[in-house]
Amino acid sequence: MKETLKNIEKEALNHLSKTSDLKELDQIRIKFLGKKGELTKVLRGMGKLPKEERPIVGQLANEVRGKIEEELEKIKGELKNKEKLIKLEKEKIDISMPGKEKLLGHRHPLLKVKEDLENVFMNMGFDIVEGPEIETVHNNFDALNSPENHPSRDLSDTFYITDNILLRTHTSPVQVRVMKQRKPPLRIVSAGRTFRFDDVDDTHSPMFHQLEGLVIDKNITMANLKHTIDMFIKEIFGSDMETRFRPHYFPFTEPSAEVDVSCFECKGKGCDSCHGTGWSMELLGCGMVHPKVLENCGIDPNEYSGFAFGLGIDRIAMVKYGINNIRLLFDNDMRFLNQF
Ligand code: PHE
Repeated sequence: MKETLKNIEKEALNHLSKTSDLKELDQIRIKFLGKKGELTKVLRGMGKLPKEERPIVGQLANEVRGKIEEELEKIKGELKNKEKLIKLEKEKIDISMPGKEKLLGHRHPLLKVKEDLENVFMNMGFDIVEGPEIETVHNNFDALNSPENHPSRDLSDTFYITDNILLRTHTSPVQVRVMKQRKPPLRIVSAGRTFRFDDVDDTHSPMFHQLEGLVIDKNITMANLKHTIDMFIKEIFGSDMETRFRPHYFPFTEPSAEVDVSCFECKGKGCDSCHGTGWSMELLGCGMVHPKVLENCGIDPNEYSGFAFGLGIDRIAMVKYGINNIRLLFDNDMRFLNQF
């Protein structure tokens, strides 16, 4: 019996020294120490031994169990450690590897200016609305009190799709849509594309962008118009900018004005870029909404009055960023766009 125990110990330790993974280790434990294991078998047979031998064999059996258990634990620890190292090795991050560059895009300068403008007006309580680029002749001209023989209606200025449908020549038809759809008080701005049959040069493009503003309420006067324009110019270009209103003619406003702003280069002193005048010219057209236009849109001119303005977003972007050629805004040359 002692012999058997010794053999079990030897065999178990031999097996253990050869194991290389935890699963195998567990199988060895079951084989030798488990309920039906070899050692248990021996202990079961102890009843057959003479009484005096039993304690001696029992002690030996315990020693063998102890030794096997001790070795098992030791190897288990080692294997676990090894597994952990392998896992760590696998998960290692090489911090010297070059990273992947993330390319972040940015807004087109025109879109930036458009959003800046919209934000200024939103902060003044204006709603942002949209209108279609394809319009009716009625909304683009007739409802806006544009006389039948007005030169802007000319085939050479306007892209007609049919006799009654055209590409809008300005954003002003949005005024008509809003006045017909909503009841005063109204305070809206609307930005978007506009089209005129212009030859392309440094400052002209057949497609350009405007932002339209419209305010209708009781007791709206020219003073409200001047204050709103002055405030928005200062907000966009800086508080040291001045505005100047020059009388002008638009069929849909009366009185009408064009607005100049202090020259961006010299801030009004007079320099080459403003031809010594101190002013950047024709940034914006505006006026008090013509009573006939109000009438055309179902608003009583005896009860309500209002003002409207339209500005060239491309022009504003050009003076703001010192761009001297409008084509740069539409060419999508990355060397140009990456500067913004
Ligand atoms: N629609 C005019 C233009 O395109 C600008 C304008 C808008 C003028 C609103 C007055 C009032 O030139």
